[in-house]
Order: sequence, then structure tokens, then C-alpha cells
Amino acid sequence: MIPAKNPYRKLVLVCQNQREGDLNCCMKRKAGELYPKLKEAIKAQFSDVRVSRTGCLGNCGTGPTVVIMPDDVWLGEVGEGGIAEILEKLEK
Ligand code: FES
Repeated sequence: MIPAKNPYRKLVLVCQNQREGDLNCCMKRKAGELYPKLKEAIKAQFSDVRVSRTGCLGNCGTGPTVVIMPDDVWLGEVGEGGIAEILEKLEK
């Protein structure tokens, strides 16, 4: 292994996990629709912020889950209506 540089100022993780049966998960709570819209909005405004799909982040009951790093900001029940607030958080 070698050290790698961090090319981004911030990293936004968007859970895209699908769980079987009756188990709660972000994909059953419209995370699939959220991801491309959030990514497009962030890309349009910030060239130094990376948006990545992730597996389960452990907050399945309050998804869609979005995490902003390195700020350690964890957000739940994120819908399209929350995109503007996320963009504000990324300005700092
Ligand atoms: S399924 Fe998204 S946090 Fe677990």
C-alpha cells in the first residue's frame, strides 16, 4: 500500500443500500431518486466536492442517509427538498 492524496475538499456519501424483505433501507425510501439529483446539483456548484454512492451507513430506519466528510455531518430522511441545505453546508 502507498499513501494517496485527497483530491477533494469534501466527500458526500449517499447510501444506496437495498435490504431484502420488510427491512428498512435507504433504497426503499427513494435514495435512488435522490442520488442523481444531489450529484448533479453539487457538481454544478462545486468542483472540489466528490459525491459517492455507498453501501449501508447504519442508519437504515431514517434513510435516505447522507454523510458529509470530513465535517462528520450525518443527515437522515434526506429528500429533494434538502438539496439546497446540503449545498449551503458544502460552502463552508
Ligand atoms: S440502508 Fe442506508 S443506512 Fe442502512
